[in-house]
Amino acid sequence: MSNWPPQELKLERASVSDLNAQQYEDGSRFPSGYICRDENAQLGPLLESISGAREELLEEATTHGAVLFRGLPMPSAKEFDQFIQALQLPNFPYAKSLSNAVRVNRTERVFSANEAPPDVQIFFHHEMAQTPLFPRWIMFYCEIAAEVGGATPICRSDILLTRLEADCPEFVAACREKGLKYTNVMPSENDAQSGMGRSWKSTLGVDSREAAEARLRELNYSWVWRVDGCLEASTPPLPAVRETISGRPVFFNQLIAAFSGWKDSRNDPSKAIRHGDGTPLDPSAVARAIELANELSYDLQWQPGDAVLIDNTIAMHARKPFSGTRKVLASLACMETQSFELAGAN
Ligand SMILES: [Fe+2]
Repeated sequence: MSNWPPQELKLERASVSDLNAQQYEDGSRFPSGYICRDENAQLGPLLESISGAREELLEEATTHGAVLFRGLPMPSAKEFDQFIQALQLPNFPYAKSLSNAVRVNRTERVFSANEAPPDVQIFFHHEMAQTPLFPRWIMFYCEIAAEVGGATPICRSDILLTRLEADCPEFVAACREKGLKYTNVMPSENDAQSGMGRSWKSTLGVDSREAAEARLRELNYSWVWRVDGCLEASTPPLPAVRETISGRPVFFNQLIAAFSGWKDSRNDPSKAIRHGDGTPLDPSAVARAIELANELSYDLQWQPGDAVLIDNTIAMHARKPFSGTRKVLASLACMETQSFELAGAN
């Protein structure tokens, strides 16, 4: 692309030191990014330019894992929605997804990242890797940065896999062979006090037990109804390592979040995740995976107006606890060549 980034709009490629980014041996940076250095910038021409460079930007997100945009005049969800439209990606409708987080829509495509209270830490995960249907792309946007804390840590899962395989080869081999199986207990009504408090009605998009069971059968889940009306659902074995569209194998799963964080009044993390054949995970290998992810973590310290495009098949994300008001919004998109129904099939 000849005119990217557009100099006349003062949109520049961010340097490693601008973002305090990580630099890997293969030349990739984590994250890569762009900074608009014009205080009087108009969003329209910037978005037009982004739209023209979309293919290059998507490729960049896959190569590097994440692309950050800083300094764009995007004061609210409305402008973020326009940014998303400029990328022309098919929406991954949250309402139809099987995610377990409670979220509130701000526009048709933009919703709050997670309504869990500020002191709740959300551990590393690939968006919806614990379900058969997951988005290819995730976009986050900062409307209001927290006074203290509230970073969004991100981590390259392809690099994590290489490091973990060197340290714990047997565990990675077991993950490859057997996959992983997730179990979680969903309340009958949304519980905003929990990071995983989405009700079974909302998660499955149903309003009766019969309809819930039909949907679970369709998904090949197994389930148990609890006496208090909660639903305990287990996935079929899902891959723990995937060859993504990029051709790089990645540690694409929900292992860290499920093992560390699937904990609330209904859920016990020790029962949340097992190998696909039902055997327990080696706790020392899981501890090593968590340690490595933390080592490889890049803490995205939000500035208001920041937007980041993440290839969900390459990079994991998390949320640090915070104090004060924090408004980080999210939007999900499918692979271009796949409909929502096919988003998980690769
Ligand atoms: Fe997430």
